[in-house]
Amino acid sequence: MITPILLVSLCSIICFFIFSHFATASHGPNEPRLIPSRIPFFGHLPGMIRHGSSYYGMIAKKHNLPIFTLGVPKSKIYIVTSPQLISAIDRRSKTISFAPYVVQFAKRMLKPSQHAIEKLGENLLEEKGPVGLRPETLKAMHDSLVPGPNLDAISKVMLRGISTYLDPASVQESSGSGRIRLFEWTRRFVTRASTDAVYGPEKNPFHDPEVYDAFWTIDEQFILLGLNVLPGLITPRGSRARKLFFDAMHRYYSEDGPSTASALIRSRHAVSLQHGLSQTDMEHFNLSVSYGLLVNTVPTAAWVLYHVYSDESLLASLRRDIGAFVRREEEATASINLPEVIAGCRLLDSLVREVLRVHSTNASGRVVLRDTLIDDRYMLKEGATLLTPSAELHRNADVWGPTASAFDAGRFLGQKKVPGSAYRAFGSGASVCPGRFFATNEISAILVMMLPRYDVSPAHGRSWVVPKTKSHITTSIMTPVEDIEVRITEREEAKGVKWTFTWEAEEEKRQD
Ligand code: HEM
Repeated sequence: MITPILLVSLCSIICFFIFSHFATASHGPNEPRLIPSRIPFFGHLPGMIRHGSSYYGMIAKKHNLPIFTLGVPKSKIYIVTSPQLISAIDRRSKTISFAPYVVQFAKRMLKPSQHAIEKLGENLLEEKGPVGLRPETLKAMHDSLVPGPNLDAISKVMLRGISTYLDPASVQESSGSGRIRLFEWTRRFVTRASTDAVYGPEKNPFHDPEVYDAFWTIDEQFILLGLNVLPGLITPRGSRARKLFFDAMHRYYSEDGPSTASALIRSRHAVSLQHGLSQTDMEHFNLSVSYGLLVNTVPTAAWVLYHVYSDESLLASLRRDIGAFVRREEEATASINLPEVIAGCRLLDSLVREVLRVHSTNASGRVVLRDTLIDDRYMLKEGATLLTPSAELHRNADVWGPTASAFDAGRFLGQKKVPGSAYRAFGSGASVCPGRFFATNEISAILVMMLPRYDVSPAHGRSWVVPKTKSHITTSIMTPVEDIEVRITEREEAKGVKWTFTWEAEEEKRQD
């Protein structure tokens, strides 16, 4: 006789298998190999949640495949670990596209109007060429951030902001009890200098400490806000912070802030007007500008400081190399023109790239918008997600040699040319990061202003401890689980010297 318990159990098992069947997307013979999961229905999802982006590396190592498929409920994810295949994917940027992520980010985080969402989603496959709100905004960003007069102009403002924070009196003030939390401290002056550069120092909304706090609270609450389900209930803090940020942007736009801003904001503004965006939408869309601008530059700059100051021989080499660019017209003065150091100090350039290589953790997500065959072999199916995890490619010994997993500040000095598709810190192809030159300028400027003048040592004990790291959903760079406490002291030889840091690009010097 069938008891009620047995009946319920049988029904549950039948329902479970029916559910699993419909929950798993079908898999074609030419698609990248499907890696089976022992967990029905949920597939690889629990592994991805548990291990974050290192899960892909674990699977890649076990199966040694250039591309493979992970099943997740109702969908599938292709993971690519081969630089050659990434190049093939980059060439198909219209059908294997970053654009749906941009639309999703806007929908979930920016509280846009229906009109703005429709505009962003227009011409997703770019069948009409690179026209429409999204491609034109991206082009405006690239054009205003490529090396040239616009980049020089914002780098100059950024430099001024950082100089103020890094002068001895300010450093002394930040030290307070004698200890500085390295990542938090860097966050403060990078936020100020970067936003002054982009929004203009006159009306930059980030001057208000509440706006600063609000922005970083939004970042902290990103996952909950991004769920986009009753945010006021799920994350009242995040929700309040986002409102405060939008209100500050409203004041900025109402006071004609963009007229005092960089070419980046002005050109975005012009594109938005052409596509009939309301002022409210423009205000809200600035949350994405601030995101791109800040969330990766802050940890990278702090890591660079950590790596240099925790390695005495690297510190001495860089001080020597930067020293060659110091001008001393009088005994108590010293000046450095930043573009000269950035262009001429190869170790500095190599160091920044290496820090990005080692700490990079982006997954460079794409959506397959149409069935696409790559490398004449792999069929990628419409609707699937595709990831190219940078950490995996950055540890690939075929590309980087046997020391791939080690930190080597001079790696890029002697390195034979690495294919762009293997160096993923800024992505590649059509969605390569438009802010990469500005970020590199800023990080380099921080080092050039710090090294000749300050010593940095661990606040606890004599030796530096390698911090445990974690990834955060919005950032492409790992961050330490706990901040690193340091002491910053002025070097004896720098005391009493008046330091000047300038940004005079070659072009400007020729015109003078
Ligand atoms: C060290 C600092 C930075 C790192 C590591 C970084 C990294 C990245 C990465 C990995 C991507 C995704 C590329 C892809 O999926 O292929 C990206 C995209 C982007 N980044 Fe950056 N970024 C940095 C700084 C900046 C700055 C300073 C800005 C703005 C001024 C910026 C603006 C953007 C924008 C707007 C995109 C989206 C591009 C698109 O829609 O196609 N980033 N960045």
